[in-house]
Amino acid sequence: MEIFRTRQAVRAAVGRWKRAGESVGLVPTMGYLHEGHLALVRAARAENDRVIVSIFVNPTQFSPGEDYAVYPRDEARDLALLEAEGVDGVFVPSVEEMYPSGPAAVGTAVDPGRLGRILIGRLRPGHFRGVATVVSKLFNIVQPDRAYFGEKDYQQLLVIRQMVRDLDMPVTIRGVPIVRDADGLAMSSRNVRLSPADRAAAAVLSRALDAAEARMAEGPVTAAALRRLIEETIRAEPRAEIRSVDVRDAATLAPLRGIVRRPAVALLAARFGDVFLIDNRVLTPPVAPPGP
Ligand code: PAF
Repeated sequence: MEIFRTRQAVRAAVGRWKRAGESVGLVPTMGYLHEGHLALVRAARAENDRVIVSIFVNPTQFSPGEDYAVYPRDEARDLALLEAEGVDGVFVPSVEEMYPSGPAAVGTAVDPGRLGRILIGRLRPGHFRGVATVVSKLFNIVQPDRAYFGEKDYQQLLVIRQMVRDLDMPVTIRGVPIVRDADGLAMSSRNVRLSPADRAAAAVLSRALDAAEARMAEGPVTAAALRRLIEETIRAEPRAEIRSVDVRDAATLAPLRGIVRRPAVALLAARFGDVFLIDNRVLTPPVAPPGP
């Protein structure tokens, strides 16, 4: 497994592979890898000749006062995990390598528009602009054939798909299903920062989504009723501080009114202590039985 610290080094390796006719899959990460990341790596491994993982805690997607400084990092452990997965190359740039004039001095950025301002984008202004900008830089540096993103960051996946479509980027985006711990908590690098009591309490998020899914399976229900059910379930856990709960159109994230008649996505964000967690579930209305 090769480790690249500079843009030139990763470009030279990818150039060699492409000249040999090999396809390249990229898995962009911020490190502190868990099974969710390894699922992305395995998906990339399954359909590309070469797999590159990037590890970069991107400062431009954190607002002042967020957890950039304390975001968990462990490069040696990450590299050992990736070596065991048979990854071909790991791109581990410094902040100076990615932003030579400094992260605050970036003149050109990718603005995802409305999709970047709603939901998580409202809670974290500028977040998706930072994500879209760094992901487009990674695509330009690595020039992968395919790139892999977790469905846990549902809005992020839609932002990236939109960016690739709007800017005609020659890369295929793959979404990979959420990986959960045994109690249902979606895997996240941030879970390690939860206190033991908050870690146990955080399982309420997937229980709330289970409740919504079960309600949807019972028959016609409004988006507002699903949202109330999710909120009530989370409120029963005193350690959870709800930041947002929304039930939106699964394809566009547009608000839904009345009975849900097409695939919806329940998106939630909550804090446990100072740790911000998100989760989601696509809820598909049951198909009505054929008439007599
Ligand atoms: O999902 C993440 O880990 C990050 O947002 C990403 C896509 C690597 C961009 O920094």
